[in-house]
Amino acid sequence: MLKKNEEYIVDIIDNGFQGEGIAKIDGITVFIDQAIKGEKIKIKILKVQTNFAYGKIIEILEKSNNRIDAECSTYKRCGGCNLRHIKYQETLNIKKTVVENCMYKALKKEVKVNDVIGMENPLYYRNKLQYPVGVNKEQKQIMGVYSSRTHNIIPTEECFIQNKECQIIANDIFKFVQENNISAYNEETLKGTLRHIIIRIGVKTNEVLVTLVLNDNNLKNEKELIKYLTEKHKNIKSIVKNFNTKNTNVILGDKTEVIYGDGYIYDILGDYKFKISPLSFYQVNPIQTEILYNTAINNVGVDAHIDPDDIALDLYCGIGTIGIFASKYFKKVYGIEIVKQAIEDAKYNAKINNINNIEFFAGDVEKILPEIIKRDNLKPNVVFVDPPRKGLDKKTIELLKELQPSKIIYISCNPATLARDVALLEEKYELKNVQPVDMFPFTRTH
Ligand SMILES: C[S@@+](CC[C@H](N)C(=O)[O-])C[C@H]1O[C@@H](n2cnc3c(N)ncnc32)[C@H](O)[C@@H]1O
Repeated sequence: MLKKNEEYIVDIIDNGFQGEGIAKIDGITVFIDQAIKGEKIKIKILKVQTNFAYGKIIEILEKSNNRIDAECSTYKRCGGCNLRHIKYQETLNIKKTVVENCMYKALKKEVKVNDVIGMENPLYYRNKLQYPVGVNKEQKQIMGVYSSRTHNIIPTEECFIQNKECQIIANDIFKFVQENNISAYNEETLKGTLRHIIIRIGVKTNEVLVTLVLNDNNLKNEKELIKYLTEKHKNIKSIVKNFNTKNTNVILGDKTEVIYGDGYIYDILGDYKFKISPLSFYQVNPIQTEILYNTAINNVGVDAHIDPDDIALDLYCGIGTIGIFASKYFKKVYGIEIVKQAIEDAKYNAKINNINNIEFFAGDVEKILPEIIKRDNLKPNVVFVDPPRKGLDKKTIELLKELQPSKIIYISCNPATLARDVALLEEKYELKNVQPVDMFPFTRTH
């Protein structure tokens, strides 16, 4: 029987869903953060549950060839890049195995999964920085990333996956916050003004959108802050305040107020220009996004047989990116998305890209899709779905089974729900190709 605080020497037999090392002691599975398959490690047991336990590394006795020195100073405490200690190529192998395992578990058979498409330069890739601001024990302002599994903020002035320009602007805002004694949100008392700093950059256009998430409308020295930032960073096109007074983990509130510029920026993906607003979803890794979208479209086989009468659906379309990429191959594309602002952006994006064969609808796919199908007596030939992590709802899966498009292209950021949904769709469809794309290098797999 395993006991907390006991020490063991174990062989790491695999890496799991979160990249954690896996060992077995007397048939009990032990998860060990930052351990790598093939290593021999002295561990201490941290927690014991009925069928599994958690351990922590005391000493690495035999090191894997895939282990590298993580150059990042916050890495061990931050919950972000939990694969930073592993060679990049091996992280891609781990991610591939995770997809294979998810498929095997859900479909009860081996599925061929292609090698993960990785990045040539897997650093500084994020176009969106999102740092909480809070107070430390001395009640002084603090900005950074949450430490793993907690809401303790680790001061962060450098991050190896963050766009460098976004980091510099965040550091400047925080310097201003400290110098002007702007009040920071305290998660315990629920008091204080500034909760989050969000900075988005159009990597191709170099345009920057700053969002300050506030708990109240008392941002001290607001005008001076705008002047300081926009004089120092000419590429800041807009600054907005977003109000979130709720005690939740959700970062953004519903209400935004533009205090500088137009309230949005542009970015370019492939041949298209996209408007990005503070509340709209936009993929955080633009280099891999182009690869992802082109992979999705190539999997339709459009180059092989373009039928000008084909109809496509882009479900969970965000600001319309996939539908716009695909529009030239189809007679008409229908896009559905729940965030109204994103749909407004999507309509605008179609217009500025001179695309006239796409129609967007704001609402819940589960509810809106059956209505559109009925209204236009639609028989879609191709359906793109790109749902949030929880995957597709049962009603939509049933409808997709009835509609019988010749192809469904399922884009997913969670291999577990993807595999679950594929198992349900398999009653009517054959799984043809599984192509992972590494959208978040060095971070866990979902
Ligand atoms: C993973 S994102 C994909 C967005 C877009 N395809 C892209 O690549 O940028 C998922 C999107 O689904 C939207 N969404 C979440 N639940 C939804 C629902 N029930 N109905 C419609 N859209 C939903 C989210 O707002 C988000 O924009």
